[in-house]
Amino acid sequence: MKVEVAKTAGFCFGVDRAVSTVYRLLEEGKRTATLGPIIHNPQVTGDLAARGVVTVNDPAETPKGCTLVIRSHGVSQAVEEKIRALDIPCVDATCPFVKKIHQLAAAAGDQGKTFLLAGDRDHPEVQGILGHCKGENFTVKNNEELVNLLKNNPDLREKPLAFAAQTTFHAGEWEKCLETLKKLCTNAAVFATICNATARRQKEAKTLAQRCDRMIVVGGRDSSNTAKLRDICAQYCETYLIERADELPVFSAGLSVGITAGASTPASIIKEVLATMAEVTNNEQNFEEMLEESLKSFNTDERVHGVVVGISPTEVYVDVGRKQAGFIPANELSNDPSVKPEDVVKIGDEMDLLIMKTNDQEGTIMLSKRRVDAMKGWDEISQALENNEVLEGKVIEVVKGGVIVLYKAMRIFVPAS
Ligand code: F3S
Repeated sequence: MKVEVAKTAGFCFGVDRAVSTVYRLLEEGKRTATLGPIIHNPQVTGDLAARGVVTVNDPAETPKGCTLVIRSHGVSQAVEEKIRALDIPCVDATCPFVKKIHQLAAAAGDQGKTFLLAGDRDHPEVQGILGHCKGENFTVKNNEELVNLLKNNPDLREKPLAFAAQTTFHAGEWEKCLETLKKLCTNAAVFATICNATARRQKEAKTLAQRCDRMIVVGGRDSSNTAKLRDICAQYCETYLIERADELPVFSAGLSVGITAGASTPASIIKEVLATMAEVTNNEQNFEEMLEESLKSFNTDERVHGVVVGISPTEVYVDVGRKQAGFIPANELSNDPSVKPEDVVKIGDEMDLLIMKTNDQEGTIMLSKRRVDAMKGWDEISQALENNEVLEGKVIEVVKGGVIVLYKAMRIFVPAS
């Protein structure tokens, strides 16, 4: 039996970030609650429950003393306001890609546009997005619904529209919707908000299913992106959705089997599935290598100019004018560990940044501000030396034999003498 694993299988950037947030809070000794299950994976949520993490359906249910985590799906503006009003300590782990749609939904209302969203109206991400709309809005779950909507509301064809999609919307269906809009509407602004990670995962699942005899989709049965992967694969070959390795069907020898997994499937479960298959087939595929390959990133020395679009306690989100979402981890903002992201930047700030790492599969770029600042600082220090000029910095650390002074993001050793 030949087994092939999709490079895009497993946690996406947003889910990884949300799950890591919960584990980080636990490590910090904080009692933690999540607003809804943090991901659609019973193994992970089971592990978190065993560690004392409480899942609440409404902020008011948050036990006293708990820090509440908003999951990657995000929530409506009303829920955000309720959390603030109840004064609950909260960490917002809404995926930056979803946050961007919240902003589009709100802006559409401000600009007097009707907001149209392609997505599943029962999905929490969609409910959260709609909860940021300020004006007329509609949701369509496929092209057929869009055609009917425009047929039943002919005035929409002339109205200014803002059209976006749920991040996990089916890429092929989105294309059909765009064709319809192009044909029937005269004033529609289109925002391509399907997450790159989702589009790539779906595309790879399709090509894998086209060349394999069987497909296995690993993921939670409640997960919409996993269900979509199953639907895509099932168009091309016999497909099985499994949550755990022990649900694996028995395949006859000689078949080629493709494996993919939803965005909320941890690597540990995919490894378990592969190990079980290897036991049965003596397959020698090395999943570790494959996973590493799939997460391959590279360092570049490229500089980009970006605008700050969001700030969280651990990251700053930056629009660098590319398709990918840019983010600066807190430790790449400043060399001074005592400063918080909000002390260093504010929304709308423009700055030069260094690309540290890109992840094409997830559609993210990791950036550094402190390294660019340090390069600029170094030039100034060299010049000051030449000109015999005095510079002023901030003492940030006392070390053996002197102190460390911070000047324009440069750590400078000043001997005690
Ligand atoms: Fe975010 Fe895309 Fe994942 S929208 S939560 S990175 S699938």
